[in-house]
Amino acid sequence: MTANNNRQPLYIAICTQKGGAGKSVFTTLVASYLHYIKGYNVAIIDCDYPQWSIYKMRQREAEQIERNSFYQNKAEIFFSKLNKPTYPIVPCQPETGLQQAKEFLYSEEQSYDIVLFDLPGTVNNESVVQTYFAMDYLFVPITTSRINMESTLPFMISTHEMLTVNQGNTKLRGIYPFWNMVSSKEKPELYSYYEKAILELGIPILETRIPKSVRYDREQSIEGNDYLFLSTIFPPDKPLLKGSNLNLLVDEIIQITGL
Ligand SMILES: Nc1ncnc2c1ncn2[C@@H]1O[C@H](COP(=O)(O)OP(=O)(O)O)[C@@H](O)[C@H]1O
Ligand SMILES: [Mg+2]
Repeated sequence: MTANNNRQPLYIAICTQKGGAGKSVFTTLVASYLHYIKGYNVAIIDCDYPQWSIYKMRQREAEQIERNSFYQNKAEIFFSKLNKPTYPIVPCQPETGLQQAKEFLYSEEQSYDIVLFDLPGTVNNESVVQTYFAMDYLFVPITTSRINMESTLPFMISTHEMLTVNQGNTKLRGIYPFWNMVSSKEKPELYSYYEKAILELGIPILETRIPKSVRYDREQSIEGNDYLFLSTIFPPDKPLLKGSNLNLLVDEIIQITGL
């Protein structure tokens, strides 16, 4: 399944202008799913300085494993079967992330199939703009909240316009929003209303909708021995994967990107 040849790794960013929409969480979940379940070789370039939330999560998890025999044992069993280590997470500055990614990949003996970038939401300088357009694909978590739409729509529209104007001459091949935090409390008409508006702009929306759920708070803890959903070291545990639609999201990403 793993391509692992000399092909350039695919660059992907799950990105949005709106803070708290699920950028880092889905970068982590998609990375873990592809690396631990689907058998691809993954790397994360964490350019969202100063938060570095994915990089810090890995540090936190690694420290906790040292002190928690349940997860230590789980890791031993899991990695002896997996036959490869965790994926690397490289902390970078937003302006130099692209160059640092290049240097990182060059310095590695193994090849990577996919590199996921956690990019800063504020695209306020030229080098960050260039980094966005150096991705192969962008996936944008959106919600029906007005505040989310107001900050995300202009970004999607201007990016899509750039793609249309440049007609295939950018590295970036597509921008794909997907619904996150979908709740039955929300009026269904709201989704179709926004979806119609976005499709009319020529922007395709992923079919997968990610439900709002408490499983996003299930992180590894020092004393805990519970199922995990969000982790940089383990894949999501099956009982929490069920109903999350993460598998559908990953399948759609694989299909679109041709991974
Ligand atoms: N589908 C969801 N259901 C419930 N909580 C979610 C969902 N998606 C994301 N979250 C929560 O939203 C918060 C912000 O996510 P995060 O990825 O850190 O945002 P960003 O990186 O875009 O600022 C986190 O606490 C995360 O657990
Ligand atoms: Mg973040």
